[in-house]
Amino acid sequence: MSKNPTPLDRVRDFEREQAMKVSADERPLFHLTPLVGWMNDPNGFCWYKGQYHLFYQYHPFSRQWGPMHWGHAVSENLLHWTYMPCALAPDTAADAGGCFSGSAVEMPDGKLLLCYTGVQPAGTFRRETQAQCVAVGDGIDFEKSLLNPVVRHAHLPEGYSEYDFRDPKIWREDGMYYMAAANRHEKKQGAILLLKSFDGLDWHFVTELDASDNEYGRMWECPDFFPLDGKQVLLVSPQEMHAREEFHAGYGTVAILGQYDKKEHTFTRESIQPVDHGLTFYASQTTLAPDGRRIMIGWMDNWETCKEAPRRHPWYAQMSMPRELFIENDRLCQRPVREIETLWQDTVRHDSVTVCEETALQGVQGRLLDMTVTLHVQNSACRRFTLHVAKDESHYIEIRCDLARGELVFDRSHGGSHRDIAHTRHVKAEVKNGVLTLRLLLDKESVELFINGGERVVTSLIPTPLEADGITFAADAPLPVSVEAHHLK
Ligand code: FRU
Repeated sequence: MSKNPTPLDRVRDFEREQAMKVSADERPLFHLTPLVGWMNDPNGFCWYKGQYHLFYQYHPFSRQWGPMHWGHAVSENLLHWTYMPCALAPDTAADAGGCFSGSAVEMPDGKLLLCYTGVQPAGTFRRETQAQCVAVGDGIDFEKSLLNPVVRHAHLPEGYSEYDFRDPKIWREDGMYYMAAANRHEKKQGAILLLKSFDGLDWHFVTELDASDNEYGRMWECPDFFPLDGKQVLLVSPQEMHAREEFHAGYGTVAILGQYDKKEHTFTRESIQPVDHGLTFYASQTTLAPDGRRIMIGWMDNWETCKEAPRRHPWYAQMSMPRELFIENDRLCQRPVREIETLWQDTVRHDSVTVCEETALQGVQGRLLDMTVTLHVQNSACRRFTLHVAKDESHYIEIRCDLARGELVFDRSHGGSHRDIAHTRHVKAEVKNGVLTLRLLLDKESVELFINGGERVVTSLIPTPLEADGITFAADAPLPVSVEAHHLK
């Protein structure tokens, strides 16, 4: 007798049918998009059995957010992704309202443990609640624990929320499992809680690692917590930030650098900075590559603007370029994963070309490009440099550098959007030893800009028609500029 199909079987059937309908040309070259439908946060990013696995918040049945599933893809180089069948569907009492964000870790027996937030729908007398669930599998099929939810509000001391309690990031250390999860404290707002477990099922509250104290946003989402170059890094994605210092208002990504006393489980904050200064970057998550690199990926979108974004494809949303993280001068810095070099073709170089009036450079154009522009500012009277990409008669994306102030403006106002949403961001871009470098990754409908070797990053989707592929350079006084442009295939 054949079994009735489960909700997950139905999604997997739907995926098989849809996968045939989308050609690779309809997707970015090296940024992950959902197989079909909607995608938000990266989940369960890990290296498992010889491949990177990346799961994602997923609503297969429409290009809008809806009941959350976990989509799944694998890759060997972080650039070319192969779709796997949907991993989790909201189909149990513990997660009937959705399988929200979470993470993955290999267990001692070689199985993969997924840990995610189960949302329990509102009932007659209560609001929707959130608790943490687990599922164990072989990297393709996962079985949810009958004990779910394994971490509930009852595990927490007083003052923490049962409604905003989500996005567990788990790791293994010294024979134990640890979890950093986001919560909203009734007084302090965003708070990251540490829990521990011997087996991944029986969890105990340890401490609060850090909290917003109403200073850096209200709810904090999607934490990550890891050592890097002698520091401990806590990543969080705050909601409802006030603009302050280098932080823009609204949804953002924040890195808190500090020291972690593993015995006492105390985290001491030393500094705080934005992770990405762009218009579309949120909910970042990291994993450790087999060669020891700490690699971060984020949702290349933003809750504020995604509602207004064009839906041109059968899928909606993209992940960012995966980035290698490192600490330099006490700041968290990023560079695109070096695997991108395997896509380089037809490299074009221009050394110290003097730029003044708006000009194009031979061979430097396109929407699939890894381009580094070096401004040799030292002996120039230039104060203002302007770079246009994705340009035609009616469109352009503008990157304006005020060299005297050490500030850069990323501006997509002329990128083709008809929506009254944020289109500009201001970010520090300081001339160092007479030089400012801008590395841009263009992949059709996105720009990722790495300033001064990744000291600051600006990520943005661009709605510009693909035919707009011009690039121009301009300066208000003669400025020597070097350009190295790798076309990407
Ligand atoms: C962040 C987030 C998470 C949540 C998920 C739901 O973008 O709001 O906190 O788990 O999205 O899709």
